[in-house]
Amino acid sequence: MKKKIIDLAVTANISLNDNYVLIKATSPTALPKCEPGQFAQLRVDGSSTTFLRRPISINWIDTSRNEVWFLIQKVGDGTNQLSTYKIGDKLNVVLPLGNTFSLPLCSTKRPLLVGGGVGVAPMLCLGKKLKEHGFDPIFLLGARSKRDLLQLEDFEALGTVYTTTEDDSHGEKGYVTNHSLLNQLEFCQIYSCGPKPMMEAVASYARRTKTACEVSLENTMACGFGACLCCVEKTTKGHICACTDGPVFNINDLLWEN
Ligand SMILES: Cc1cc2nc3c(=O)[nH]c(=O)nc-3n(C[C@H](O)[C@H](O)[C@H](O)COP(=O)(O)OP(=O)(O)OC[C@H]3O[C@@H](n4cnc5c(N)ncnc54)[C@H](O)[C@@H]3O)c2cc1C
Ligand code: FES
Repeated sequence: MKKKIIDLAVTANISLNDNYVLIKATSPTALPKCEPGQFAQLRVDGSSTTFLRRPISINWIDTSRNEVWFLIQKVGDGTNQLSTYKIGDKLNVVLPLGNTFSLPLCSTKRPLLVGGGVGVAPMLCLGKKLKEHGFDPIFLLGARSKRDLLQLEDFEALGTVYTTTEDDSHGEKGYVTNHSLLNQLEFCQIYSCGPKPMMEAVASYARRTKTACEVSLENTMACGFGACLCCVEKTTKGHICACTDGPVFNINDLLWEN
């Protein structure tokens, strides 16, 4: 899909908690087709310290409203500035960038989608696509506390949701990779996005249970289209750019240790 630079107009800025906002924005022309796993590069206007665009996952595409959603965690100047955008503000984006998650090849219909922190962002539109293809997505979402579990109602509309929190305020206590569900069910494919230690633990579970697994990496990116080489990941196929050949990788291609 050819990438485009588009001036979107913000249609909603919803504060989910102190650290996260959900920005919805519409395009004056038809949005290009965006697939789960792909991301956009958002220009940050109004920040004197943010020179480069910021990569943000496609959280949801609402085709009926020609709208794209971005779930934003406020971590630095760029994302804090984006979080202040108001209805009607211009949001300049380049999209769609990167590759996508693949559909499960096996006959059982139960994929597992594991998200931690802001890594839940691409899991929502992936869940929608899997559901549209006849799968019954199971979401396993982890957070520090109940208030950090994001978009739960949207996930529940697409499949079965299990949660873990580190402070025991929702679901099982601990980390997603310790959830009892993992000892009870088998999955046709596993997808994951979140902190690297979490994805490494998910990958290790997938290897142990011989389940196909794809993870979405959040390597630091600058250009977003293969020019600067700052996002390179060492893989079995050599050094490749996470922004163009990723961000989605089959775990068998990664040189992670466990
Ligand atoms: C493919 C991809 C998809 C992403 N999707 C989302 C998304 O949907 N929502 C979202 O909020 N964020 C997402 N991120 C992360 C987001 O791009 C960064 O948090 C953002 O660029 C930080 O910009 P900043 O100016 O706010 O912070 P900076 O001032 O650049 O950095 C502030 C702090 O955040 C840390 N940081 C910067 N980049 C990252 C990163 N990639 N991962 C973890 N920590 C980082 C820095 O180390 C620093 O400590 C994604 C990243 C990638 C590569
Ligand atoms: S971000 Fe520039 S090559 Fe990937």
